[in-house]
Amino acid sequence: MSAPQQAGSGRLILVSNRLPVVISQGEQGYHARVAAGGLATGLSGPHRESGGRWIGWPGVVSQDGSLTPEVHALLNERMMVGVGLSEAEHEAYYTRISNRGLWPLFHYFPERMRFDAGDWEVYRDVNRRFSDAVLEEIQPGDFVFVQDFHLTLLPAMLREARPELPIGFFLHIPFPSSEIYRIFARREEVLEGLLGADVVGFHTLGYVRHFRSAISHLLGVETRGNRAYHQGRQIQLLAHPLGIHTPDWEGGGEDEPEVQREMQELRQAIAGRRLILGVERLDYTKGVPERLRAYASLLRENPSLADEIMMIQIAVPSRVEVEEYRELKDEVDRLAGDINSEFGRPGRQALHYQFRGVPPHVLRALYRLADVCLVTPLRDGLNLVAKEFVASRRDDDGVLVLSENTGAAWELGEALRVNAFDDENMVRTLKRALDMPLEEQTRRMAAMRKRVAEKNVHVWAREMVDAIRSAEPLAPPPALAGEAKQRLLNKWKKADRRVLFLDYDGTLRSFTDAPEDAVPDATILQTLSQLAGRADVATWVVSGRPSDLLDEWLGKTGVGLIAEHGASVRAPGETEFRSLTHDLPLGWREEVRAVFAEFTDRVPGSHIEEKPLGLAWHYRQASPEQAAWQARELFRHLEEGMADQPVEVMRGNKVIEVRPAGVSKGRAALRVLASAPGERPFVLACGDDITDESMFRDLPAWAWTVLVGARESSARQRLADPAACLALLTELAATETVQAATGSVR
Ligand code: UDP
Ligand code: G6P
Repeated sequence: MSAPQQAGSGRLILVSNRLPVVISQGEQGYHARVAAGGLATGLSGPHRESGGRWIGWPGVVSQDGSLTPEVHALLNERMMVGVGLSEAEHEAYYTRISNRGLWPLFHYFPERMRFDAGDWEVYRDVNRRFSDAVLEEIQPGDFVFVQDFHLTLLPAMLREARPELPIGFFLHIPFPSSEIYRIFARREEVLEGLLGADVVGFHTLGYVRHFRSAISHLLGVETRGNRAYHQGRQIQLLAHPLGIHTPDWEGGGEDEPEVQREMQELRQAIAGRRLILGVERLDYTKGVPERLRAYASLLRENPSLADEIMMIQIAVPSRVEVEEYRELKDEVDRLAGDINSEFGRPGRQALHYQFRGVPPHVLRALYRLADVCLVTPLRDGLNLVAKEFVASRRDDDGVLVLSENTGAAWELGEALRVNAFDDENMVRTLKRALDMPLEEQTRRMAAMRKRVAEKNVHVWAREMVDAIRSAEPLAPPPALAGEAKQRLLNKWKKADRRVLFLDYDGTLRSFTDAPEDAVPDATILQTLSQLAGRADVATWVVSGRPSDLLDEWLGKTGVGLIAEHGASVRAPGETEFRSLTHDLPLGWREEVRAVFAEFTDRVPGSHIEEKPLGLAWHYRQASPEQAAWQARELFRHLEEGMADQPVEVMRGNKVIEVRPAGVSKGRAALRVLASAPGERPFVLACGDDITDESMFRDLPAWAWTVLVGARESSARQRLADPAACLALLTELAATETVQAATGSVR
């Protein structure tokens, strides 16, 4: 029997709305035309090498949404699989939800957004259709990489069907600020959909931040660094900007003679003037009218320039079925006409405007001839045109003017940055670009060109594919039962010394509505007293509670106490607490208290707890719906607002706590261990909360670490609840030990 294939080692299954070929119907039947964009170039290597499939809509609609055997055959030859759509489906899913709903909103045009609940059902059905197509293809070991906003629900659909499948998703458009995002009527569903993936990629760190904020606010998903923790899984959030295949633009390719010829013809048309270039799909996000107006203002303010410069604007027709795009075309047509009537003269246009795409060799010629490339979208996820222009500048000359609202602006810092909404700023920057000395042009362009070549599309594809392939599903630790439990008991018996670190709330004691009601019951007190009574066992309760309360509740048992998440300790049998946190700056408390007070006012039933070092805001008794929303807001506010203070903001179970940085249960436990050197003891740490994770992480690898609960954790074992934990402790307390044993514990 062959060994089971390792997850993610197999084929790459790509999924996108459009396939890298377009199928069209001609007189002699169907034929396929390559639609090689940057994405296709970057992913074709891994796609081919892994023997995978590319699944997408092939560009043809039919009455019933099926594809003909001929289309299937054309795709099959190219290792592609088509998802057929009817015209009505395509309109609802692509034209309306994707292009009139998600696209404008994600590009910060909420006033252009349209949403219809019926269309959304179709969007969901089409995502389901894609999911079915993937599931039909998938083989053991395969991994899936989904592209863009047309397919936001797909990752969760796949996850539901295949819990173990490695899934990646990349969003090619911006992820907007959560304040904008939350306008969307199906905001939770989209986030849940994306969180079905193991890896979610974005072009910039800003988009990652916005996404993190949205999942934290709207779903209460916990995030740490670049990871989100959701439904027992971890999701990696990555910022990897898409790149280009630079050899395509550097010249000397197969079509070089054609490019040269084109350059010659263009030179004649340009007639010695300097060339300003604009290239994009005609989309309202691209800022074409704003750019043309700035160009007109420049000519108006500098009449002598009319004979020295000209502009070519290529506007590729796009989404013409959408009304806003048709209106835009009318506006741009008008503006272009106005510019030529005002600044042109017979035989000499000030602007060559073309509502038509250009073949690749013409685009290459344009990039090489332009003196200034104006890339000034109002908002753009990345913008490949900027990178293509840079890669084309073999002599490192030319100036890129780049809108700061593009993802590419974060990588291309040497471009002249511009605020595309500010006409004066645009005119000034354009003038500066035209006046830029060659030496400065070269300095800026060379740096960008190097970066674009290094961070190319293959690097992007490799980084994303590797991340998906190595995605590790996150499962709760295994139950402490059977053989594992037997091993623990044996070690317990044989050790010379035994040290227990036990969290209190949620570990020894179940939660109560009011924290002050969680007094220890008889079983807890009895078990702890029994353990404390044994000379060969050091028992510590490690809690976030203040020292006086721990003393009041547990003092008589004789156990050691670590109070306030490790801020102070009292050894077993002693009466005084010792601070582990001398000279900590506490100046931040006032500010935090004021913020907590504001939220306490807003959320009836919540209250502030003053601890010797930290401050906690409890909301267990508040209305869950209202409190959860406010708590997320408060947490984000404190996390950002206190980032420069020496504090940690912790989210516990219905509590948010701010306390001095560097104080943790893990550190305190380590100090306790270090204070009694000698043979390696038997160590057991039990806890349920996020604050207990520091113990699980910091204690040595040979310690027994036990999560009480069922989430993912750094603990190595798991017990179901406080009752199970107490049962284990009772058993240990009653288990005789073999004092004769020597040597190391595990
Ligand atoms: N492009 C094209 N035909 C043209 C002009 C441009 O295919 O006539 C290509 C251009 O080379 C670039 C892409 O269209 O790769 C535009 O990508 P970008 O990221 O700039 O914008 P998007 O259209 O994806 O919003
Ligand atoms: C953007 C999107 C792509 C889309 C492209 C062209 O780059 O991120 O997913 O394919 O625009 O738009 P279209 O609607 O023609 O596919």
